[in-house]
Amino acid sequence: MNITFSKIAVPGRGVVVIAVPEGIHGAGKLGPAAAKLDKLSRSSLSRAMRAAEFTGKREKTLVLMVPAGTKLDRVVLVGLGAAKSLDALAAERIGAVIYDAVAKDPAAAVILETDGAAVDNAVLAAHLAGGLRLKSYRFSKYQTKEDKDAKPRLKTLAVQCDAPAEAKKRFVAVNAVVDGVFFTRDLVTEPPNLIYPESLAARAKELAKDGVMVEAFGEAAMTKLGMGALLGVGQGSDRESQLLVMRWDGAKDKSAPPLAIVGKGVSFDSGGISLKPPAGMWDMKWDMGGAGVVIGLMRALARRKARVNVVGLCGLVENMPDGKAQRPGDVVTSMSGQTIEVLNTDAEGRLVLADVLWYARRFKPKAIVDLATLTGAIIQTLSEHYAGLFSNNDELAAKLLAAGQAVSERLWRLPMGEEYDRDIKSPIADMKNIGGGRAGSITAAQFLQRFIKDVPWAHLDIAGVVWNEKATALAPGGGTGYGVRLLNRFIADNYEK
Ligand code: BES
Ligand code: MN
Ligand code: ZN
Repeated sequence: MNITFSKIAVPGRGVVVIAVPEGIHGAGKLGPAAAKLDKLSRSSLSRAMRAAEFTGKREKTLVLMVPAGTKLDRVVLVGLGAAKSLDALAAERIGAVIYDAVAKDPAAAVILETDGAAVDNAVLAAHLAGGLRLKSYRFSKYQTKEDKDAKPRLKTLAVQCDAPAEAKKRFVAVNAVVDGVFFTRDLVTEPPNLIYPESLAARAKELAKDGVMVEAFGEAAMTKLGMGALLGVGQGSDRESQLLVMRWDGAKDKSAPPLAIVGKGVSFDSGGISLKPPAGMWDMKWDMGGAGVVIGLMRALARRKARVNVVGLCGLVENMPDGKAQRPGDVVTSMSGQTIEVLNTDAEGRLVLADVLWYARRFKPKAIVDLATLTGAIIQTLSEHYAGLFSNNDELAAKLLAAGQAVSERLWRLPMGEEYDRDIKSPIADMKNIGGGRAGSITAAQFLQRFIKDVPWAHLDIAGVVWNEKATALAPGGGTGYGVRLLNRFIADNYEK
């Protein structure tokens, strides 16, 4: 989509969107730019608004067909809501509503006048465009007979705003993040016959064009490193496991300690010998969602040239049952030297992360944040409304909670402690890979913590938020890309100053 910002963007034909502040009961109070709209009869506009009881409530729309006195096909009014609460997040959601109203038009113009808003007009314009683009996401590459009428046609968006040069500059960063979200959504949506550890690593190598250093290590290298926990998970698959290492060193001091972001990348989780039931097993194609976020985040950071050093680390494996697969009861030795009794081969994500978290130490990170579709239990606890947050560090947890709130990718912190850790004691090894069946998300987090020493660490259990069948405010349904905007904000607010 081609998105432009200018002082005057209104065409004589087609569709024009006018953003309307709340509390308005007629066209008389529209801003000067909207009021100048080519010969549009203001009295008929006022009548229409009154007749429809349209008062500019946030995200409400009113469509006027072939308005008298113009050659326009449609004028779409969209409510901005109260000026004082109009912020970047609100602008994104308004942009998404506008997308739904103009998706079938080849081109649209938006008049955005936001006098009295707490946030700068240029910022609002950039985020409105970003939200619109987020909502426009489609994944149709495997649909050979797509219905032409149902297909979105929007190719050009012109935003009329107060300071177009500033809006354009802001949009570069916003758009980089949207690119990252789209990359993540693409990766989680791809089918598991096509996305497997090596092909996922190959897709990540596309990031080299953005300036990210990308390396992938295979099973021979991981055997040398002693990654017995990760390798055990992949040993029942014909696909070779991979360790993906991505570096973006954008800080002034390229040798300053990085942040480490770690992702669970199980390209398909059948459960292994502890096989899952068939219903819904297809969802396990997005069990690489944590890795998907890390890869998308690296794109966002690189494309907006974030002034930070970040290393992205993903354990990529396929969990399959096979003659060579690991058995319930096996004992494996992790890279840390700690041994694990594998009682359930379906609790594989923690086995993968155990070795990747331990490996992260060699980068001497300031902090480690991991993302994983780790437990079904977190969906029971929080549904799709929050991801679970677990941390050994209150300050780090607070930063993540705040970033999640700011971009509406919310986190809820859950407790950890010795009383939960007891649950994963094994009679024959250092630990077992499942707890007693209660507080399953917490015992999973306790397991991970055994592979973290003193580094500030946070674990995000994103099993409930990676995929949403229904459309959400900023996504059309399917892969959400949850986590990219959250971590991007977390980094921008805390590590780039
Ligand atoms: N990938 C699953 C968790 C999951 C479930 C993610 C549903 C998204 C939707 C994970 O590997 C798993 O199977 N966890 C088990 C752990 C159990 C065996 C201790 C679970 O949650 O049932
Ligand atoms: Mn599993
Ligand atoms: Zn899994």
